[in-house]
Amino acid sequence: MRVLSGIQPTGRFHWGNYFGAIRQYIQLQHEDEAFYFIANLHALTTIRDPQQLSQLTLDAALDLLALGLDPDAATLFVQSDIPQISELTWILMTGTPLGLLERCHAFKEKKSKGISADAGLFTYPVLMAADILGYDSNCVPVGQDQVQHIEVARDIARSFNHHYGDCFVQPEARILDESAKVPGTDGEKMSKSYDNIIPVFEEEKALQKQIMRISTDSRAMEDAKQPETDHLYQLFCLFGKSAQQQEMAAIYRRGGFGYGDIKKQLAQAAEGYFGPARERREKLTLDPDFVQDILAAGAAKARLKAAEVLDRVQHATGLVR
Ligand code: TYM
Repeated sequence: MRVLSGIQPTGRFHWGNYFGAIRQYIQLQHEDEAFYFIANLHALTTIRDPQQLSQLTLDAALDLLALGLDPDAATLFVQSDIPQISELTWILMTGTPLGLLERCHAFKEKKSKGISADAGLFTYPVLMAADILGYDSNCVPVGQDQVQHIEVARDIARSFNHHYGDCFVQPEARILDESAKVPGTDGEKMSKSYDNIIPVFEEEKALQKQIMRISTDSRAMEDAKQPETDHLYQLFCLFGKSAQQQEMAAIYRRGGFGYGDIKKQLAQAAEGYFGPARERREKLTLDPDFVQDILAAGAAKARLKAAEVLDRVQHATGLVR
C-alpha cells in the first residue's frame, strides 16, 4: 500500500498541521511505502516572493525531519522536482468538469471573501488529483479540510478510467477523528488565513503568549462548564492521555477553576511535547546539505514512480505514437 500526502510551505507549521496530518505521516511511515512532499507549486497561488518561497520550502523540510519524518523510511521530496505531475495535471484538466471545481470549498470561500481568484486557485484541486493519482496512491492522510479535494481526485480517476480503461488507483482519505479539525485560538478551524494559529516551533516564552491568547467564555470561576464544547479543552486533549483528559473533563464539570491555570498546564504539555523537536531542528539547520541531499534522493525515487504512471496515461490517451 502506498501512503502519500503533501503540505504547503506557506508559513510556519501549526498545531492543526501537526495533529491533523504530520502526526499521521509519521505513524504511517514505517507501516507502508510512504511518499510525502512539500507542495511548493500549490504555494505559488499565495506566495509570489521567490526568496521567501525557496526559504519556506527548505524550512518545511527541516520541520518535517525534526518532527520525526525518517528519510530512511519515507520518501521526502519537493513537488516541483517531479515535472511529470505538471504534465499529468494538464491531461486531467481536459476531462474535469468546471462544476466539480466550482463546488470546491477552498475556492468558494476565497471568492465569497472577495479575494480575487486566478486560474491557479480554481484548478488547484486538479493539481492535487495529479499529485495523488500520479503515484498510484492508496491512502492519503489529511485533515478534514482536504477530504473534499480527495473526493475530487476520486471523481477524476473514476471518469478517466471509465473513458480510457483502468489506469488509476482509487485513493482513500485517512483522517484522525479526534484531530481532523483542530481549533485555533478563537475556536474556529486553526488556519494561517485566520490569524489564529499556534506554531509548532514556537520558543517557550512566545508559546506561552500564544496560548494565553486562546479565547474563553466569561462565566464565573465557580460555574460548572461543558468540556466537550470548549476549544481550550479540545486543545488540551491533543496532548493529554485519556486519563488526563478525563481528569480535566471532571474539573470542567465541577467548576471552581480559572482558565489561566488550564492554559498554564497546556503550555507545559506543549513545551514537553514539541521542545525536543525544536532542539533537533536547531541541529539540522547546521547542515543544510544534509537536507538538500534527502530532498534530491527523494525526488529521484518519486520521479521513477511518476514516470511509470505518466507513461501509462500517455499510452492510454494516444499521446504516445
Ligand atoms: P495544507 O498545507 O493547507 O495543510 C497541510 C495538512 O494539514 C491539515 N490541516 C489541519 N488538520 C486539522 N486541523 C486543522 N486546523 C488543520 N489545518 C490544516 C490539512 O488538512 C492538510 O492535511 N492541498 C493541500 C496540500 C496538498 C496535498 C496534495 C495533500 C497538495 N497536494 C496531495 C494531500 C495529497 C493543502 O493545502 O494542505
